[in-house]
Amino acid sequence: MISFLNGTFRLDTLHTSYLFRVTKFGHLENIHYGEYLADQPLDAILLKHTAVIGSTVVYDASDPVYSLDTLSLEWSGIGKGDYRHSPAEIKMPDGTFVTDFVYQEHRVVDGCIPMQTLPSSYGDKKDCRTLEITLTDRPGQVTLLMYYTVFPDTDIITRRAVLLNNNDKPLVIRKMMSMMIDLPNRNYSLVTFQGGWIKEAHREDQRLHYGLFVNESTTGSSSNRHNPGFLLAEQGASESYGRVYGFNLVYSGNHYEGIELSNQDLVRVMAGVNPHCFEWPLSKGERFESPEAVMSFSDQGYNGMSGHFHDFTNRHIVRGDWKEKERPVLLNNWEAHFFSFTEGKLLRLARSARRLGVEMFVLDDGWFGKRDTDTSGLGDYNVNRKKIRSGLPEFAKKINRMGMQFGLWFEPEMVNPDSDLFRAHPEYAVQIPGRKPALGRNQLVLDLCNPKVRDYIVESVRGILTAANITYVKWDMNRHMSDMYSPCLTSQGEYFHKYIIGLYDILHRIFSDQPHILLESCSSGGNRFDLGMLCYSPQIWASDDTDPVERLEIQKGLSYLYPLSAMGAHVSSAPHQQTLRATPLSSRFNTASFGCLGYELDLKYLSRLEKNEVKDQIAFYKEHRRTLQFGRFYRHDPYKNNKVHWQTVAADQGESVAGFFQTQSAAGEGFDFLPLTGLDGGSKYTIRTRPQPIYVKRFGALINFILPFHIHPEGILAGMINKLYSLTDCVEEYQGYGDILHSGVKLNNQFVGSYYNPQIRLLGDFGSSLYMISRVKP
Ligand code: DGJ
Repeated sequence: MISFLNGTFRLDTLHTSYLFRVTKFGHLENIHYGEYLADQPLDAILLKHTAVIGSTVVYDASDPVYSLDTLSLEWSGIGKGDYRHSPAEIKMPDGTFVTDFVYQEHRVVDGCIPMQTLPSSYGDKKDCRTLEITLTDRPGQVTLLMYYTVFPDTDIITRRAVLLNNNDKPLVIRKMMSMMIDLPNRNYSLVTFQGGWIKEAHREDQRLHYGLFVNESTTGSSSNRHNPGFLLAEQGASESYGRVYGFNLVYSGNHYEGIELSNQDLVRVMAGVNPHCFEWPLSKGERFESPEAVMSFSDQGYNGMSGHFHDFTNRHIVRGDWKEKERPVLLNNWEAHFFSFTEGKLLRLARSARRLGVEMFVLDDGWFGKRDTDTSGLGDYNVNRKKIRSGLPEFAKKINRMGMQFGLWFEPEMVNPDSDLFRAHPEYAVQIPGRKPALGRNQLVLDLCNPKVRDYIVESVRGILTAANITYVKWDMNRHMSDMYSPCLTSQGEYFHKYIIGLYDILHRIFSDQPHILLESCSSGGNRFDLGMLCYSPQIWASDDTDPVERLEIQKGLSYLYPLSAMGAHVSSAPHQQTLRATPLSSRFNTASFGCLGYELDLKYLSRLEKNEVKDQIAFYKEHRRTLQFGRFYRHDPYKNNKVHWQTVAADQGESVAGFFQTQSAAGEGFDFLPLTGLDGGSKYTIRTRPQPIYVKRFGALINFILPFHIHPEGILAGMINKLYSLTDCVEEYQGYGDILHSGVKLNNQFVGSYYNPQIRLLGDFGSSLYMISRVKP
């Protein structure tokens, strides 16, 4: 897995190899990262340096072609001839910014080397090995430790760096990345995941141009604007074909990813903590740890690469009782009630949810303090007895007696100026003395750099969790940082990073000895969807946007980096609160089923038929939950612009669920097919449409052409028929061997305005179907 021979390090996973060597001057030169290479002479693949390149600075007069600017490096300093961006900017003890770290020694250890200040991936000697390389600048004064952890089974290599100051004088870190690698350009495209509130993780593709492209966050969180994960893909790469690199960070704060194409056609990739407002003094004997960066490569396209990320997250990031454990189907009361509820209302909703098969009832915002709007109450933990008459412990018991688990919402990192906490401790809030702080959602951020604040949060949340039987926590965080200042810091340049270290400390103290609690992180939806949070919370609320058409884009984007088992996805009422778009209940479920399913609507507004539909949905989801949450997930390249195709296949290839989604309908559509992959070519399967109702109101005035009598399409009678009667959307069933199905299943025609019969698929705008593919028992 890790070897060192003739000055060359070789890191192998099942399908990838990573090779670099120590040059004669002690720099680490990357030789290859990509497909697995058999042990063989490497001369052919070494980057050649046979000509003196004009306008370069030569590192040492003894070798005129050795210029750091043209080397493919694993780390680079400043001021020795490499004019690309450096992964570190350090004001050294001698006051200069010149750094030149060179190899001293290395060691290889079994398993991972845990970090002291930040969460990281984990694994024992069966899972991984770690290479630690020591480099120094001005020997004995400043040391750089570079760590490479190799996870062969998931084709992942992680990297991180630690800086140690051994000098009597302090140094100041202005920028310190976790990793850097130079790769020869192969006309790569850069894929990033961009967005904002209710439009997270939209995939963006761009050609690399000369110069630096930065993907970063400055909000204090990993952010919904620019997820820390990104990809490099060779031209023409598709979901199933081509060379794709993936990069991500185990970090929840301000991150920075620099992708720089040099004039020598080398692509420099670096990732780490954002240098924005960052200044970290390091005195003698002190060390600074950068977060862990995660890298993967696949020559099987985007799906190959994301499969590695999914397995890695499930096996080496998510921990505790919920590791690879099926997530419950929950009902969250937020979109049903917002702040306006009583215990009676909640219990009625819970009873109804239980009847439909829901396993967990989650009480969202508004249960504490004076919190009837978002203007007050954050920071306080006293239950509002006007709303929860019997108090939380008793209320939880009532939910438990119905046969459901009980979950509760918290927003512990925040305070409203109108709260008892703020009145008692204004100094707990982040604000600069003498300046009026800016508000976000009427709230201020609590100063997690302050140990007293951290203690307050830990005691308050633990108090509630101990008093009531709460087995799920939604940990929300609803504003970006402003007015960054903490009296507890000597250098304010430490603020952003120390805040996140403080957050991890709190999460560790509250939850590490309560691994049975399922933590769902949330930050106005997916504002903190990252591997750092996934070290504590096995799932994350993907977006406040529950419109399935939007969710197709959001969940697709997230799926390049994170597994379905990590994505909270709920069915809500339509027209959707975020878009005013009306979508079929079936499509809301079909989309949410590719994730951790929940419902978030007032069930009392559903008709009896719709309740039956929800009941069937939940039963189906539970039956195939392992495949839907932990199966191998594939995005199929769409063959038409208005289609989205997803598929998830069980680990033993015994079953698969495929989703066929149509965004806008098009008149006179030609044939449709269902692309499939991942099945066992030699096994016979049955493929069948999951039956779902079609409500007659979808037909509008057309209803009069199938009824024996005439009615007003908007009238009371039409409304009653719609509540009492539905059609079943076309169900198709076929059998075939896996290899035949892989060529694509041709589906029945869609409704094209000519005539209706039960063999016609009724999709329209935003229609969709799920297909169940099951191996035929011999
Ligand atoms: C933002 C979250 O994303 C929502 O799901 C909900 O919990 C609200 N906060 C409550 O204030």
